[in-house]
Amino acid sequence: MSIPRQGRSPAVALDELNALRADDAPVHGGRVLAYVYDAGLADVTDAGLRALADFGEVNALDPTVFPSVGRIENDLVGWGLDLLGGAEASCGVVTSGGTESCLLAVLAGREDWRRRGGQGQPVLVMPVTAHPAFAKAAHLLGLRLRFVPVDGGSMRVRAADVATALDEEGTAVALVVVSSPSYAHGVVDPVAEVAAIAAARGVPCHSDACIGGLVLPYLRRSGRDIPDFDLSVPGVRSLSVDLHKYGFAPKGTSLLLFSDAEYRSGTYFTYSSWPGYPVVNTTLQSTKSAGPMAAAWVVSRALGDEGYAAAADRAIRATDLVVDAVGSLPGLRVLGPPDSTLVAIAAEGAEADGGVDPFVLADRMRARGWFIQPQPAFADLPRTVHLTMQPTSIDTVDEFVVDLQRSAAECAGAPWAAADPALLAAASDLEAATLDEATVAGLLAFAGLVGDGGAGLPDEAAGIQALLESLPDPLRDRLLAGFFSLVFSARRGPDA
Ligand SMILES: Cc1ncc(COP(=O)(O)O)c(C=O)c1O
Repeated sequence: MSIPRQGRSPAVALDELNALRADDAPVHGGRVLAYVYDAGLADVTDAGLRALADFGEVNALDPTVFPSVGRIENDLVGWGLDLLGGAEASCGVVTSGGTESCLLAVLAGREDWRRRGGQGQPVLVMPVTAHPAFAKAAHLLGLRLRFVPVDGGSMRVRAADVATALDEEGTAVALVVVSSPSYAHGVVDPVAEVAAIAAARGVPCHSDACIGGLVLPYLRRSGRDIPDFDLSVPGVRSLSVDLHKYGFAPKGTSLLLFSDAEYRSGTYFTYSSWPGYPVVNTTLQSTKSAGPMAAAWVVSRALGDEGYAAAADRAIRATDLVVDAVGSLPGLRVLGPPDSTLVAIAAEGAEADGGVDPFVLADRMRARGWFIQPQPAFADLPRTVHLTMQPTSIDTVDEFVVDLQRSAAECAGAPWAAADPALLAAASDLEAATLDEATVAGLLAFAGLVGDGGAGLPDEAAGIQALLESLPDPLRDRLLAGFFSLVFSARRGPDA
């Protein structure tokens, strides 16, 4: 049995639980530059966590039984609409995170397309840099993806390329997505141009501001030149913005804002043709905890507009310092440059010309206690490392830059991580779709990803990153899925 036969004291159980975090990356302190968002305000964080607990048992499925849910949700959506260009008719919904917001945005587009008389399989047009949440939405909701390349210099999609894609796909297009900004490079697509092109063809546009929606408005207010990206842009019918990113709320909340309730209506699911309670779902979940939205409510009120402005200011100042520092480091360059608080660092020059391998750099930084996130080369876009800069980064940025300089110096002239050609040749014979779980597990063990200690990445992961980067997409995806299958390999234990 995986629970004790006899219960133990809750305090002991909690201690045991917290001990499980021993190997986790720290969520505060500014040394982990992906996945976490740290405003550096312990009292605000604590208030959010307290609200998470206080509301954890409230069922946000039914605002008639728990009216607090309606009040909290309307306050959060109202805030989002104030900040992000909502009009009189605009509305929204609180979801569990960016991916759920993106899924519902695609659902709204698909249902709108059906109402417009769309026939056959709907198409989702998006830049190659759009977040995979949209590929997941297309997969789940039966849309075909039409990718549009991005400009190799600015990393932004070109509006003219979107127009071409729209014209070629014709009436099959249900929705166009743009990023505000993209996760990988931190740049804002030409939202206004794309939305106008889409609107001229009767197609709605979604602006994915999951990661930038609570930063860009403040950067603009402080005088930065931020392209138009919000709901006020004609043709933008929906916009996603995550409260669990730069909203600094605990994980589990995002906002999806809509131009109008008619457009939102496609995302609602109601079912009353059964002998139980009439089900009305405004999100993918049905029973859901009010904890995350309550936490976001408290954090947003504790920070206030000025708190968010200050947080954005700290994060962007840290970003600027990193961008400048990389600019003066031989062998490295910043892509974009970014519009927001995300940085993508690539090699300046090829291996033979002294370019620094971002994968090796990530390993060196990891050895110095920093997590920066490797991003593989894709099409003609180079291999990079990603940094999500945070308000707390301003306190650690000097140390970061020194360690980056040291790490880059160590990498200078060092060979780039590359996949073993023999391994690649062997892999090219493999047909991803035919590989069963056991074969995949064997391949992962061979590649060094699983050992006696279970599934995990070695401290020096550049070689593995390079191998994955070189594999054909279907095989890479199969191995990645197999890896997670091994991480989550719990089995029923023997009967006691
Ligand atoms: C631009 C963008 N969209 C969508 C998402 C998906 O958000 P989540 O991880 O909360 O599901 C992310 C996550 O980083 C993102 O950066």
